[in-house]
Amino acid sequence: MAEPTLDALLHESRRFEPPADLAAAANAQPALYDAGSVNRIAFWEEQARWLWWDQPWTTPLVWDPPYAQWFVGGRLNACVNAVDRHVVAGFGDKVAFHWVADAEATTRTITYGELQREVCKAANGLLSLGVEAGDRVAVYMPMIPETIFTILACARIGAPHNVVFCGFSADALRGRILDADARVVVTTDAQMRRGKSTPVKPAVDEAVAQCPDVRTVVVVRRTGEDVSWTEGRDVWWHDVVDTQLDTHQPEAFDAEHPLFMMYTSGTTARPKGILHTTGGYLTQVAATHRYVFDLKPDRDVYWCAADIGWITGHSYIVYGPLCNGATSLLYEGTPHPEDQDRWWKLIEKYKVTILYTAPTTIRTLMKWGHEILEPYDLSSLRVLGSVGEPINPEAWVWYRTYVGGGRTPVVDTWWQTETGAIMITPLPGVTATKPGAAMTPFPGISADVVDNDGKPVPDGGGGFLVLTEPWPSMLRGIWGDDTRYRETYWSRFDNVYFAGDGAKKDEDGDIWLLGRVDDVMNISGHRISTTEVEHALVGHPAVAEAAVVGATDPTTGQAIVAFVTPRGNVAEDESKGDAFVQALRAQVAKEIGPIAKPRQILVTPELPKTRSGKIMRRLLRDIAENRELGDVTTLLDPTVTDMIRTNLSESGGAGGDEA
Ligand code: WTA
Repeated sequence: MAEPTLDALLHESRRFEPPADLAAAANAQPALYDAGSVNRIAFWEEQARWLWWDQPWTTPLVWDPPYAQWFVGGRLNACVNAVDRHVVAGFGDKVAFHWVADAEATTRTITYGELQREVCKAANGLLSLGVEAGDRVAVYMPMIPETIFTILACARIGAPHNVVFCGFSADALRGRILDADARVVVTTDAQMRRGKSTPVKPAVDEAVAQCPDVRTVVVVRRTGEDVSWTEGRDVWWHDVVDTQLDTHQPEAFDAEHPLFMMYTSGTTARPKGILHTTGGYLTQVAATHRYVFDLKPDRDVYWCAADIGWITGHSYIVYGPLCNGATSLLYEGTPHPEDQDRWWKLIEKYKVTILYTAPTTIRTLMKWGHEILEPYDLSSLRVLGSVGEPINPEAWVWYRTYVGGGRTPVVDTWWQTETGAIMITPLPGVTATKPGAAMTPFPGISADVVDNDGKPVPDGGGGFLVLTEPWPSMLRGIWGDDTRYRETYWSRFDNVYFAGDGAKKDEDGDIWLLGRVDDVMNISGHRISTTEVEHALVGHPAVAEAAVVGATDPTTGQAIVAFVTPRGNVAEDESKGDAFVQALRAQVAKEIGPIAKPRQILVTPELPKTRSGKIMRRLLRDIAENRELGDVTTLLDPTVTDMIRTNLSESGGAGGDEA
């Protein structure tokens, strides 16, 4: 195993220079940064020329802050760029996806040619259901090939897709269907998790029961099990799609035609529908995928282990890799304790060269120990990526040392649902890396760290991360809520985008991300707002008030800790019992999904508040993390914190979470 040891590396907190062999042959060369800074817009035009345009743009950017339009006048089809162009170029037999079901129960290899045929059938199927360009289609599906066929079919016919992560509850799904006003939902009977099949359709039935405008639910059959069925509304995929012609004449859409919406948590209880359009989005996801992962489509086997239900899946499982003609591994399962070596088996078997995952997964794998991966040949790996939350230096060094055999660059990529594509990242072969730092903006991207007044901090200083120039894959708005778009991102500082993250610039000017500065928590790389969980908790009839904070957690990054005051009519012994806490956790799972279940719920007669009646979250965070309390002089009733502390010690500290 590679020397020096993990401890030594950490102790040195060293810089990792780009490997010489990679530097010589890397897709990105240092001149890329020059090109991006000399003329940002010309740089992005150059990247846009990698795509197939039916009609070239006349103006690269129209910027009327905070509204951007990129490649104005251009027309293209996203699905043609992802699929057809490769078939036309003679790569119809090249593998697009090696799909592996959970625990390798089934596998399927899909070539670009086959992908084209499947997508055409799905497009024809959607058309036969009356879906037209501009109509929103909700997709509630796990990591199966049909999910990708559906997404690409929507893109092909210009119907924006609204993919909802399959771990969200029926209530959460309903909210997203209604907000997007989707009339067609595509789903499946079951998903496979941890070697077991779990039903998916019941959540759709429950959600759609209160969506009067949903006229069709398309269901992919995976199991032979009975599925509840609503005649006239539900149709089988094999009846609607598999019976269609496998050719379809695509139409070109405006560069600014909506491609999809993706709901994400903000600081209120209601998630925001982040809207992305076509030309700019594809330009940036393809360019970043090509340079950040140094993708060589003729040689690489790329594996992004995110879920398609999140933005990372959209940009770096579907659109980026496919636009670049990549061969990807698509794996349905997630790491779990009874299956600890699955990932290493898969990397060895498929000779994966590029791996992209989240720090929380790296920490889980790390916890299980590097001995688990030692029997496997991981020498095919050459670039490792990280996304979703700040990566701690220990996890970074472990990833590089044990998974990357001490050779591979680790690219820590910072971006958001709103940015659409990677924004701050090292480039393998070009930039040095430092464990824990996202380093520098991607060429053509302008970011900075500013203080409270919006003034850039000097090297060595910390503050708020902002993006100072529009970028091609930026969100074009929040679906149906323009005021919220302006307020959330553009009102904190004048005409610069406020990301909601804290960051620092080190002595070399390199950027380190420090986590959210708003009420958004990051649990295992999933964004969940404190307000959303509070809202769910007070939805329980026995709860008077709830306050939620994100406490530091060694594996999941942050964990949800909730403080709850019961209503006056709830008997004390009832509210103290474990059954009450379980009922509250179930309530959160019902309203949002199991991922949002608090790790710990503390029942307390009162919450600490300021004299003006605001809940003191900072104090609660200190309590949750067992820290010395900060300034409590503004606290209305200081005995409240003592009371909570006593309850905390009685409750036995942190509870585990099976979610
Ligand atoms: C966090 C995921 C530190 C950040 C692509 C951001 C990160 C939020 C990193 C977006 C990183 C993402 N280092 N923090 N490399 N990547 N984040 O919308 O707080 O699910 O604002 O997009 O995740 O999460 P989202």
